[in-house]
Amino acid sequence: MLDRPAHVAQLDRANGFYPLGSGFKSSRGRSMSSGSETQSSGAGTQSSGAGTQSSGAGTQSSGAEERQRVALVTGGGSGIGRQICHALADGRCVVAVADVDINGARETVENLPTGRAIAVEMDVTSTDSVNTAYLKIIDELGPVSVLVNCAGWDVLMPFVDTDEDFWDRVIEINFKGMLRTTHVCLPGMMEAGYGRIVNISSDAARVGSSLEAVYSGAKGGVISFTKTIAREVAKKGITANVVCPGPTATPLLDGIVQASPDGQRVIDAMARAVPMKRIGRPHEVASAVAYLASDVAGFITGQTLSVSGGLTMA
Ligand SMILES: NC(=O)c1ccc[n+]([C@@H]2O[C@H](COP(=O)([O-])OP(=O)(O)OC[C@H]3O[C@@H](n4cnc5c(N)ncnc54)[C@H](O)[C@@H]3O)[C@@H](O)[C@H]2O)c1
Repeated sequence: MLDRPAHVAQLDRANGFYPLGSGFKSSRGRSMSSGSETQSSGAGTQSSGAGTQSSGAGTQSSGAEERQRVALVTGGGSGIGRQICHALADGRCVVAVADVDINGARETVENLPTGRAIAVEMDVTSTDSVNTAYLKIIDELGPVSVLVNCAGWDVLMPFVDTDEDFWDRVIEINFKGMLRTTHVCLPGMMEAGYGRIVNISSDAARVGSSLEAVYSGAKGGVISFTKTIAREVAKKGITANVVCPGPTATPLLDGIVQASPDGQRVIDAMARAVPMKRIGRPHEVASAVAYLASDVAGFITGQTLSVSGGLTMA
């Protein structure tokens, strides 16, 4: 087990399990109480042995002095999140691919073109699941210094047809999930005096989006929350920024189109509204995230960057 940040002792106590030095060792490949497990890959190879910073093909590409950051990406098992994992692993991060869909997370790891990552089961709607996965990540990889909140979900529906269960689900995944992961990761970043947080919102939050009222509201909350966190930790070496994709070709968008009789019409209208007259590609969002997550973006904080072919210009 690698050194844990001091705040983790509190987390252990708060949850009443995994006291420091006890059984929550990184028993690689073995299920934890949450059923989560890890895989690792270095350009298609399995990594092995204790610790993670020195093994795995392609992870320490240059100079021993170069620092490899640990990145946690929620929703890394599909679409935009998957491309973000690939982009971060391509740079100087070892990546924890966290997703409620562990098979999707594993697929992301297995298809990593370069670098190294582990797959971790995490349901962002559950504090226990987030905390358990977080402990596992820091045991396997070390303290998290890059957090990308990308897990998201929606179904297109007129607001009048929605009900409170639907509101709760949208808010739990798109807004409160981000609160949970930020709450667990931020103390370690503050201790380290370094952190990069990139939250995935949506252009729907900036300009509104028909049939996405609750989602747009939750994603608007992501922007406001991020600006406030950016202010709170500005002097601690931590930045917090938002990336807003416009309509982007992913399984989420496919699902939205299929689930609603109006879906394709709405998506076509969205594409027509984009000055570049097309929807986005996941890797185009990922490259913006990778930049904001990098060391060199250290003087950029509290910003909202749209990656949407000019759909939003503000
Ligand atoms: N695709 C678009 O057009 C578009 C536009 C704007 C914003 N976004 C945002 O981009 C992000 C990625 O979306 P995508 O299009 O790649 O979607 P996607 O469905 O391809 O990927 C979303 C991932 O989030 C995971 N997820 C869902 N609920 C979760 C939970 N409770 N805990 C952990 N993981 C969970 C899913 O399993 C999936 O792997 C989302 O936040 C979405 O709101 C997407």
